[in-house]
Parts: sequence; C-alpha cells; structure tokens
Amino acid sequence: MRCTIAKGQNETVEKIVSLAKRRGFVFQSSEIYGGLNGCWDYGPLGVELLKNIKEEWWKAMTYREDVEGLDASILMHPRVWEASGHVENFTDPMIDCKQCKARFRLDTLTELISEKNKEKSLRELDPEIFAMEGSLDDKFTAVLEDQAKAVKLLEILSCPQCGNKGTFTQPRKFNLMFKTFLGPVDDASNIIYLRPETAQGIYVNFLNVANSSRQKLPFGIAQIGKAFRNEINTKNFLFRTREFEQMEMQYFVKPGSDKTHYDEWKERRIEWFKTLGMTATKLRFHDHPADKLAHYAKEATDIEYEFPFGWGEIEGIHNRTDFDLGRHQQFSGKSQQYFDDETKEKYIPYIIETSAGASRSFMAFLVDAYYEEEVNGELRSVLKFHPKLAPIKTAILPLVNKDGMPEVARKIETDLRPFLRIFYDDKGAIGRRYRRMDEAGTPFCITVDTQTLQDETVTIRERDSMQQVRVEISGLLNYLLEKLR
Ligand code: GAP
Repeated sequence: MRCTIAKGQNETVEKIVSLAKRRGFVFQSSEIYGGLNGCWDYGPLGVELLKNIKEEWWKAMTYREDVEGLDASILMHPRVWEASGHVENFTDPMIDCKQCKARFRLDTLTELISEKNKEKSLRELDPEIFAMEGSLDDKFTAVLEDQAKAVKLLEILSCPQCGNKGTFTQPRKFNLMFKTFLGPVDDASNIIYLRPETAQGIYVNFLNVANSSRQKLPFGIAQIGKAFRNEINTKNFLFRTREFEQMEMQYFVKPGSDKTHYDEWKERRIEWFKTLGMTATKLRFHDHPADKLAHYAKEATDIEYEFPFGWGEIEGIHNRTDFDLGRHQQFSGKSQQYFDDETKEKYIPYIIETSAGASRSFMAFLVDAYYEEEVNGELRSVLKFHPKLAPIKTAILPLVNKDGMPEVARKIETDLRPFLRIFYDDKGAIGRRYRRMDEAGTPFCITVDTQTLQDETVTIRERDSMQQVRVEISGLLNYLLEKLR
C-alpha cells in the first residue's frame, strides 16, 4: 500500500534542508566556524545535481546554430559597473535598529512586521490612510514607498526583532556590490567589484564573439558563472544567497523584432523547466507592470515557482533594448554598432535576456522532487528527480555480502562505471539500502540475487513506481541508457 503525504506544508523546507545536509547535497559554508550567512557549499550529491542542471541548460541553450558560449572573468574593469548603472542604481534601502542592531531592507518590512504592529502604527500615523479601502498590507506598502511618509512611520514603528518603538535609523541606500582592491594598494583608485550578474561580461564581448564566430543577427551568447550580491537579508536556504551561480543568455536582435524574440524565449524557457520534470502547475509567469520595470528594461517577466513559502522568481526574462550596448559605447568610447550585411544598415542591437539562477533552480528542482509517502505503514522520503538530473543514476546492490554475489556485482559495476555515475553498496538489509537510494534520488537499483547466479539476470527496481523487472546482465547498459534518455 502506498499513499503520498501532502506537500507544501511549512515544515517542508526544514525537512529538505535537513535531508540536504544528511545526504550530502548542501552544507553550510564554514560550518565548523559557525557558518557564513548567505553562503552554502555543495556536497558530493549536490555538486552532481548542480552540474547536471547546468549541463542541461548548456545543451538547451548552446547546442543551437544561433547561440555561442562564453566564460568571462568575474573581475571586470570598474567602468563596466558605472556604464551598467550598478554603481548608481544597484542599491536597496536599508534601515538599522539602534537598539538591537538588526538590519532590514525597508521594502521587506511589510512581511516582517506583525499585523497588530502594522495596524497600530498606520492608525497612529494617518487615520485617513488607515480608513481607506484596500488590504492592510497594500496600505502599509504604499506608505513605505512614499519617502516622506516612510520616515514618519519609522519613528513610531516597533522593531520586529527587539520590539522597541522608534529605534529605527532613517533609510539609507546600500549598494549590493562586493568591493575589493586590484593589486597590493588598498586605496580608492584600485577599487573593483565582484560581478553582481554575469550579463556584463557578455555585453563587453559582443563584438569579439560576433566577429570571431561570424554570427549574424539574431544570435545569442550564453554563459554560466558565479555572481555575488551583498544581500541585506538572505533567506530561505538557497533562495537568496550572497554568492550564487547564474545561467544567462543574451540574444542580440534587430530593433523592431525584439517583441517576437522576447515572446519566443519566454515560452522556450518555461518549457525547459517542465521538460526536466518540474510540476507544470507550480510554474507561472509574473509580468512586471510598466511602473516597476528595472532601469534597463522595456518589458520583463519572471518565471516563478511555487515554493512551500510562496511563489518566487527562478528566472527573469527581459527586453533590455539597446541600453547596455549603448551605455558601453558611451563609457568606453568604442562603437558597439553592428553592420547588417544584408540591409547595409549600422545599428546597436536590442537584447533579449534570459537570466536563470542555477542555485535557485537547484532549490526548485530539489523541493519539487521531494515526496513523502507511506509504504506498508512506513514513511518513505524520496527525491523523484528527472533521470537526467539525478546525481547517481544507478545503485548496484548484491542481496547478501557472500555466496559469490559481491563478485558478480563488482563485475557489473566495472562494466557500467565508464558510462554512468554508479553507487555500490553491499552493507545492511536490502530494504534499508533502497530507502537510502530513494533519498538520494537514484532512479534505478540493480540487485544481484540467487537467481543471478543461475541465469545471469538481475532485478532492476525503479524508484518512483518501486516496480521490479528482471533484465539480462548482457543487456543492462542498453536498458539503462534507454531509460535515462
Ligand atoms: N542579468 C539580470 C539579472 O541578474 P536578476 O533578476 O537580478 O537579473 C536573475 O537575477 C536570476 O538570478 C534570478 O531569477 C535568480 O534566479 C538569480 N538570483 C538573483 N539574486 C540571487 C540571490 N541573491 N541568490 C540566489 N539567486 C539569485
């Protein structure tokens, strides 16, 4: 008997964080020193899962005629970040509590302050606003977005951490870029930044790639790499971290054709998540309203996943117009125009960007794959990864550790290892070994048993259905490769 236990409860993320550590997916960075906030390490299974996600993305994005790959350096000329607008605009409004020293992003107060505290302070600040139509959260957010009113609100609000009233500082702009120094002298003229997005490495190489690969518009450049943001508040495990990986593709198009390409990439990108098994009903687009667009965007949408804590962005798709290349032309003094052979026109291309978080996608795939089922009165935790993403593809398990079974199992292991990521385990009860493989998300377990010694067949147990089939050892590799495809 098997039944699935409801997912999406509040404790799901805690269970996944605990499983992630127990099974070696993700560890806290520098754990023996108490950890480093907003930084995580990928363990033996995690690094495989992350690698598989990146590999699938790379194949989907660059195994095409019209997209080239790139790996630009993390450290870039500081003028890049002036041109991109990050030095000026990549800021969050931040406040501190003078009493308990806690630091908050102003725009997150709506979710952090209790209903009672919101109601009390809004009523005190402005009874007219309080009496207006609309939800308490909407009214509170509107006040925070109005600079003059926000200042007054902060004077009477209680800190969500220590509960003291009127202890907040005034909001200050906090730039999210990490700074460091180039070379041995720590002075202002040597300041450089850890890149907050991989995109700029692509823009400054646009003409290098176009000329060396002889690509014609429309074409794209794809890149996977680390990005760093000194987030004021990190949260929800891998969702918002200070060091993370992005998988970005910038598609250069002729102005006027941008809308068509934007719509096409939107559909392609959401399909990618579905093809890799992510639950379709937990995916949606969130189109940005015109008054909330980033400084560089003409049109933007987020692909959101429904995490146990609510909907959250996993990928952004933006029509960045000619903003970035135009700014780099202006700041570098080097023309970024493209010469169109066919029409004999010269122009700065528009850019359609698809920007996915590898680490955030990792978290979404992990959460989506996690199931708890009751099997014959016992709880089974299982990660139902798409076989292409599963960190271990096959486990080889001799039924007992004697009678010649380990020798046959080791021979199968030797034959399969060059082709697949294999795990060998001959310790403990077979049921316990299956459960451990379920928690690791291994789609197939091969069991060598008494019958194997007689007829050279093995049992293959499939993770999701738990069905078992007998397969000849000589046909094992083909059988598995076919199933994993
Ligand atoms: N180049 C455009 C850009 O960087 P973004 O919406 O700021 O756009 C794109 O980021 C993606 O990067 C997000 O959808 C998310 O998946 C990931 N991301 C951004 N900030 C992150 C953070 N602090 N931690 C983990 N992932 C993050």
